[in-house]
Amino acid sequence: MRRQNHSILVNFFKSEQYFKMSKFIKINHTIKPFNKEISIEGDKSLSIRWALIASQANGKSKSTNLLQSEDVMSTLECLKKLGVKVTNSKYKCEIIGAGLNGFKYNKNIILNAGNSGTLGRLIMGLLVHSKTRIKLIGDKSLSKRDFLRVTKPLKKFGAKFITNSGKLPIIIEGTNSPKAIRYNETKGSAQCKSAVMLASLNTKGQTLINAKKSRDHSELLFKHLNLPIKITKEKKIDIIKINGGNKIRPLNYKIPADISSTSFFIVLTALSQNSKLKIKNVNINPSRVGIIKILNMMGVKIILKNIKFYKGEKIADLYVKSSKNLKSINCPSGLNSAAIDEFLLIFLVAAKAKGVSFFKSLSELNQKESPRLLWGSKILNKIGIKNIVTKDSIKIYGNPNLKIKKKIIIKDFLKDHRIFMASSIAALSFGGEWKIYDKESIKTSFPSFIKKISYLGARISN
Ligand code: S3P
Repeated sequence: MRRQNHSILVNFFKSEQYFKMSKFIKINHTIKPFNKEISIEGDKSLSIRWALIASQANGKSKSTNLLQSEDVMSTLECLKKLGVKVTNSKYKCEIIGAGLNGFKYNKNIILNAGNSGTLGRLIMGLLVHSKTRIKLIGDKSLSKRDFLRVTKPLKKFGAKFITNSGKLPIIIEGTNSPKAIRYNETKGSAQCKSAVMLASLNTKGQTLINAKKSRDHSELLFKHLNLPIKITKEKKIDIIKINGGNKIRPLNYKIPADISSTSFFIVLTALSQNSKLKIKNVNINPSRVGIIKILNMMGVKIILKNIKFYKGEKIADLYVKSSKNLKSINCPSGLNSAAIDEFLLIFLVAAKAKGVSFFKSLSELNQKESPRLLWGSKILNKIGIKNIVTKDSIKIYGNPNLKIKKKIIIKDFLKDHRIFMASSIAALSFGGEWKIYDKESIKTSFPSFIKKISYLGARISN
């Protein structure tokens, strides 16, 4: 009887159910050489933007390959609370737009943006016209993040915001006579720029944005929808003029693969031995490919083939190989915005490169789901890589012979999905005995991450 109970327990601990229950993963082996092809889920920025813009259209919009992650599901839930009809499955999402100023909702509703800064900030743009008070909340990580950066420009439209010193929860009280604004976006934040762009949709007159360069998915979607948008590109800024108040037609969209999620696999391949990987249909929008440019400069070969355009976005198949002789980099800060979500991975490449790498003007990295510049430095310390971090820069002393032999625990990182995944890539690339907590965090942006690294040969246990 005791033996039977024992074997039930052993089987339970080996089971998928236990794997799901366990909070951490263990990685004790580097990955063996692989030569494979994978596909990556839909782009998060585009998935959220598609849903928010579809909610403003007159008629039914459809998307395929919409990212089925928590951030996108929070977006759909918020829209449903605002009275928008949404049906979503793994294969297709349909949104019947409410039209401009068409949200219908109960008094005192609460919208929950979960972990998503993009949702929390962008949806506020759509709410500057709200008819009654709406409360916006988020999870522990999002509640630590700065929302003044969006309430400040959105106030100029005429809306009122009651904030907790610029943090969530925020009460939004819209205006029924919004005024077009002029706004200088100086952080290089696509979230701030897009929040103002969305607010301008339903505001008569011309909104003018002088924006430091950042990802331009919202601009491309507006253009594709033939909305009256004019963009003048200068060296460091884009001047964007939008005339509001025009009806929006529905938008069918096949979301291309997310370059930020793809980057975990680019770096895993680059850092592992004798491996090759093909990733199909990746969004290579020039405002997102900082990682490709930076890694090329560091000696990683990434080849783009079958380049095509889709509704304004650029898409390609990516081919990556293991890279020997990685070089250090003095990273041009002009590439920061285009690589902003990939720096933890880039720091891992710098850890294995010959020489000292330097990354500057990166204070925005500490404004993410967790203070990622500090966490980058912490992870490097844990793997024995000398680094000097300041409030906006990091110097990394690379070691081409880097091999880890000790135990490493990664914990208490505000469940930041990118810290979890970058740590897993470090474990698979450099060795050591890793215990990485909060595996549930991948659900926010890349639910199939563990499945995909396992497919390439990663051995993962609880
Ligand atoms: C995003 C913009 C970036 C990025 C985030 C997604 C977007 O944030 O870090 O993951 O979809 O607009 P900032 O605009 O705050 O730099």
